[in-house]
Order: sequence, then C-alpha cells, then structure tokens
Amino acid sequence: MRSLGVSGRVAQAMVVALAVATTSAGVQAQSTSAAGKQRAGSSQALERGRYLVMIGGCNDCHTPGFAVSGGKLPEKDWLVGDSVGFSGPWGITYASNLRLLVSNMTQQDWIKRAHSEMRPPMPAPSLHHMHEDDLKAVYRFIASLGPAGKPAPQYLPPGSKPTGPVVVFPTP
Ligand code: HEC
Repeated sequence: MRSLGVSGRVAQAMVVALAVATTSAGVQAQSTSAAGKQRAGSSQALERGRYLVMIGGCNDCHTPGFAVSGGKLPEKDWLVGDSVGFSGPWGITYASNLRLLVSNMTQQDWIKRAHSEMRPPMPAPSLHHMHEDDLKAVYRFIASLGPAGKPAPQYLPPGSKPTGPVVVFPTP
C-alpha cells in the first residue's frame, strides 16, 4: 500500500471527520422533521377535536353561560358541566363535566361511554353516529384542556324536587 505521508493522513482524517459530521447532521435533520411531523399531526388532531366540539354544540349545554354569551367564552372555561338542570318526563338531568370525565377515562372508555345510553336532552343519537376517529379527536381535544371545575349535580328521577335552577321541558 502506498504511504500517504503526514499531510495525506491528515487529509484522510479530515474526510472521515467530515463524513461523520455530515451523517450525524443528516440524522439530526431527519429526526427533527419526524418530530415536527408528529407535532403537526397531533395539533391537527386537536384542531379537528375543537372543530367537532364546536359544530356538535357540546358547549351549549356542557359550558355554563356559553350559549348566552354567543360562544364568547375562552377555551379554559369549556365543558366543565352545568348546575342548571333539564327537567322533563325523564327526571332532571345535568350536563356532565366532560373535563373531569375525560381525565378519569381511557380513550377506549370514552368511546364506550359515547356509544351508550344517555338521557335527554343530551343529543345521544348524534353522538352515537359519530365515527370512531372523530370521537378520538374529541377525546384528545377535551383531554388537552385538562381537568377543571367540579362535578355537575347528580341525576334526579321523575318526581324529584330540584335544588337549583332548571329548564323545564313541557310534558306531552
Ligand atoms: C342540549 C344539551 C346538550 C348538548 C348539546 C350536548 N350534551 Fe352531552 N349531556 C347533556 C346532558 C343533560 C347530559 C346528562 C345525561 C344523563 O344524565 O343521562 C349529557 C351527558 C353527556 C355525556 C355522558 C357523561 C357522563 O357523565 O357519563 C357525554 C360523554 C356527553 N354528554 C358528551 C357530549 C358531547 C361530546 C357533545 C357535543 C357533541 C354533547 N354532549 C352535547 C346535555 C347536552
């Protein structure tokens, strides 16, 4: 093998060093863009969840004062449940605190709950029709808001006296 001489060896070492530097920079650039994509993916999922909550009208009942304010309440106040009851032939129901509910549930529990029975005026038939991917996006969005507020009052069976304000539905 031909001897490279001192300057040749230095040059070879530099080429090796440069190659290593270029490769690790490449790997770094790659992993940064993968993390970026993941972040963009999850922010897209949150955006979708927020959109579905908005068009699903969930805040109208599950956020105190939302409908009356014309939807002008900040996200930090969303979906904490309401102590204004809905009184009808079904008894008295209260829109649950979804922030606390979600913080105590896995995504799978949430999907199961969303497919199960709920009393009026919860638009359960609409929720039952929501695709699983959309339910997951709603779950992730509510989870991203974090737990807040206190549990809504317990359901009261027909004939019970409400302890606070109620919206009365006419009995047919
Ligand atoms: C018209 C009012 C109203 C709207 C709109 C509404 N909800 Fe509800 N929701 C209720 C009431 C009232 C209950 C309690 C029902 C019961 O006691 O069985 C409830 C219960 C629930 C529950 C069960 C909570 C538990 O404690 O197990 C979930 C989940 C839920 N709502 C999700 C949603 C989502 C998601 C939306 C929007 C797509 C939505 N709701 C829109 C009134 C509403």
